[in-house]
Amino acid sequence: MSAMHVHVVTIFPELFASPLAVGIVKRARDGGLLRISLVDLREYTSDRHRSTGDYPYGGGHGMVMKPEPIVAALDAIAAGAPHARRVLLSPRGSVLDHALVAALAREKDLVLICGRYEGVDERVRTFVDDEISIGDYVLSGGEIAALVLIDAVTRLIPGARGNVASALSESFTSGTLEYPQYTRPATFRGLEVPPVLLSGDHTAIERWRESEAQRITRRVRPDLLREPAESTSGTLAETPAGPAAHRSTAAQPPRARARNR
Ligand code: ADE
Repeated sequence: MSAMHVHVVTIFPELFASPLAVGIVKRARDGGLLRISLVDLREYTSDRHRSTGDYPYGGGHGMVMKPEPIVAALDAIAAGAPHARRVLLSPRGSVLDHALVAALAREKDLVLICGRYEGVDERVRTFVDDEISIGDYVLSGGEIAALVLIDAVTRLIPGARGNVASALSESFTSGTLEYPQYTRPATFRGLEVPPVLLSGDHTAIERWRESEAQRITRRVRPDLLREPAESTSGTLAETPAGPAAHRSTAAQPPRARARNR
């Protein structure tokens, strides 16, 4: 199987070094399952100051990311990866969830565009397939969101984790949060491990784990137990399952328009 290739467009490529050099992501890269290219947006600027931001038309505070360097970087990436799926990280996007991570994990090439400042020039949205947020809060840029996405996607690349069974039983695949886990010692500061886990009765252990997972989910995230149509994840829950289900989550019309220009 060929490696998944993630191209990250950013003004802070140095921010990515250590998170991508540990754990499962490092193993996937070392094992040839994942390739990461950090694309320094400043390489695609054309002025003396290598500016990536400018003042907003109409006034207002802060700076807006200029469209030309971003689209020049996208064009350069497209020369080698014409079918790459382009994702803009922004607090305005669809909120990332397991289904969207799974859809992205099936792509061969992903481009992650990290916004900074007060946002990107609106016209950049014409050139992307998806706009994704990692949650309802504002980060100082899309870089950490891109790292979250890379981490979550890498875990779903076949072979990235030794154990496929653990991928299947994991939270958000099963529809519940995870059941409680314990390791030695059996008593820690007076706190006991539930006796059923020491019983050796695998049927009873399985039943206990399922009921604990249900109980915890009901208490902490009751929304996960509701029918998908009632879910809060917006249009994603209403689209049919399958590879195309998460195409074009961007607020603007899909890139087909820009492509045909
Ligand atoms: N950039 C700033 N805030 C963000 C968020 N919540 N998700 C993705 N990208 C962002």
